[in-house]
Amino acid sequence: MPDDSKAIVHRARAVHGVVRIPGDKSISHRYALLAGIAEGTSRFQNFSSARDCQNTLDCMARLGCEWKRSAGEDDYGAIEVRGIGPRLNAPAKVLDCGNSGSTMRMLSGILAGQPFTSELCGDESLSRRPMARIINPLSEMGASIEASEGGRPPLKIHGGQLKPIHYRPEVASAQVKSCVLFAGLFAEGETVVEEPIRTRDHGEIALQAFGAEVERKGKVSRIRGGQRLRAIEAHVPGDLSSAAFFLCAAALFPGSQVTLPGILMNPTRARLLDILIQMGLQVSVAHLEEHQGELIGTIEARGSEWKGGTIAGADTAALIDEIPVLAAIAAYSEAGLEVRDGKELRVKESDRIAAVVANLRKMGAQIEERPDGMKIPGGQHLHGAELDSFGDHRIAMAFAVSALRAEGETTILDADAAGVSYPRFFEELRSVAS
Ligand code: S3P
Repeated sequence: MPDDSKAIVHRARAVHGVVRIPGDKSISHRYALLAGIAEGTSRFQNFSSARDCQNTLDCMARLGCEWKRSAGEDDYGAIEVRGIGPRLNAPAKVLDCGNSGSTMRMLSGILAGQPFTSELCGDESLSRRPMARIINPLSEMGASIEASEGGRPPLKIHGGQLKPIHYRPEVASAQVKSCVLFAGLFAEGETVVEEPIRTRDHGEIALQAFGAEVERKGKVSRIRGGQRLRAIEAHVPGDLSSAAFFLCAAALFPGSQVTLPGILMNPTRARLLDILIQMGLQVSVAHLEEHQGELIGTIEARGSEWKGGTIAGADTAALIDEIPVLAAIAAYSEAGLEVRDGKELRVKESDRIAAVVANLRKMGAQIEERPDGMKIPGGQHLHGAELDSFGDHRIAMAFAVSALRAEGETTILDADAAGVSYPRFFEELRSVAS
């Protein structure tokens, strides 16, 4: 729901400092969901502070899996989740997923395998988002799902024993893949997901961490039904998609430098770093470690000439969450930015193509809008303006970064939207920009 929160951002000259980025949102959702259906109590450090992940935890609590901040821990992000095994409790109320598409889509995979009916709802933005992409495979597996017109939320899921399927999703979506693999735990036999483009593999890695066998070969993932999960202890890597805002802020000012410790380096996400390097950011990664199958490293980035470039094909899918910030800073680059094959951007928390185009135009930029992308010429000078977040966390943060190079002052309306993935974002940005 839009609120009257505002953030004012002034032009900066440089960006310097160390930022501790909160835990990865994609991994935190999956840990919360799988911990709930595991046996025993799981403990997590650096669990995401995102509102979206709180929604997942609260939905799981309604299904009988209590969670709490770990006793005696003042460390932010230390939580424990009590797993109750594969059979959850029927919820007394509707499960409110808030703004979180990940919660609704992935939780549906688990609910499809439960012997009861559950209802899931979301906020205005989530109520517009497409759910046919999970309704179709889950229905094929035997669940019966009611939705609003056009396959939109709210959803009513009548779950039960599922049949395994070999699913070839039309859209490249890690949420859909995880949804079907999670449902596969409740099917008799082997469920297979064969993707058009390889997407992030946190679902597969998390399932393995909780003790399930998942076979993976390229774009094909397989899981056998009936496997029991065991509680784990895990440290959630810092969210690379949140780190992207600080990396792009450094990219705006030659000589700027940011250090981001403990960031997720999973290869299905880290394509972002290659693209940033191609576009002119100097990046080095140190202290590589592995936690529960996920790679973590410390990123050091220095701003240099910002060149820009093209994002298309598999790169668009791999960078889908970072495109708003790359586009928001593209007008300052030498060559500009062209984004192709990004139809999915139109069905995120907002229509991210329309939102970027509207805000850049308010800042005085030239931009060409296309059905599946945009083209932003480089070498432009932008001015501050009153911008809308469109209730979308990534749009709020992307334009706060762009505002650092704009002439004058920028106001971001409904700035609190940032809390969907990064509640302390504006404080952290202010602490590094001078
Ligand atoms: C996510 C996958 C992506 C991404 C979203 C998180 C995930 O969505 O945009 O922020 O955790 O699996 P899609 O699966 O819709 O591509």
